[in-house]
Amino acid sequence: MRRKSILALFACLGLSSLPALAGPTEDLARTCNGCHGLNGVSVGPSMPSIAGLSETYLKNVLLQWKSGERYSATMGRHVKGYSDEELSALAAYYAKLPWVPVVQKTDAKTLAKGKEATERCETCHGATGSEPDDEETPKLHGQWAQYMELEILKYRTESIKMPHKKMRTNSKKLDEADVSAVAKFYGAQKK
Ligand code: HEC
Ligand code: HEC
Repeated sequence: MRRKSILALFACLGLSSLPALAGPTEDLARTCNGCHGLNGVSVGPSMPSIAGLSETYLKNVLLQWKSGERYSATMGRHVKGYSDEELSALAAYYAKLPWVPVVQKTDAKTLAKGKEATERCETCHGATGSEPDDEETPKLHGQWAQYMELEILKYRTESIKMPHKKMRTNSKKLDEADVSAVAKFYGAQKK
């Protein structure tokens, strides 16, 4: 009701609408879901799922893209059309949706190699990527492997702007030959 009367007021004043009143967050999320999948669960392979990540993490990355501190191929351009309030509302909206791991099978040898190479990652991500130790750390189990591999390559590349120092340092410690196995290991985890 309140919303309607506000809209009526704008109509009286001859204003169609203000950006903040462009629509409820569900409407904004429809655009996001066009790429990220129904309810933020991606059909892959290089497109990440975003539903069920923590609100803090989602808000961090969206605002870092908007300010230009964080490199991206696609999202940096995309977030420019939204106010900070809309991005915060979208972060809260997706954080409340369930995380749905998309389990991608891989062979036993790759799994073993990935498991070994992720030992130093456990303190922050948990043994399978499902137990982030804080709100700034994303879930990795059942995230799309191809997407994660690309992200690790970004963290490893000095000239690419990725603000998180510890994640950059840890990514660089991986042997180049293990990067793909690490991503496939997390992608294969159900929980
Ligand atoms: C045109 C397709 C497209 C649209 C529309 C889109 N995204 Fe993205 N999104 C991507 C791609 C591709 C990536 C991978 C990073 C990159 O290349 O920028 C990504 C990455 C992300 C990530 C990082 C996920 C992670 O695990 O770190 C978040 C969060 C995100 N998008 C949120 C959104 C939100 C919220 C919207 C709607 C406002 C949105 N995206 C709209 C393509 C899209
Ligand atoms: C000190 C804690 C810490 C350690 C150790 C750590 N990570 Fe991370 N990881 C993070 C945080 C925090 C982020 C989010 C960083 C950001 O905002 O860019 C992250 C992000 C990621 C992402 C991106 C996920 C996405 O959705 O975009 C991947 C993949 C990843 N870590 C894999 C690893 C691997 C593999 C290792 C071990 C070689 C590792 N991490 C070690 C804390 C850590």
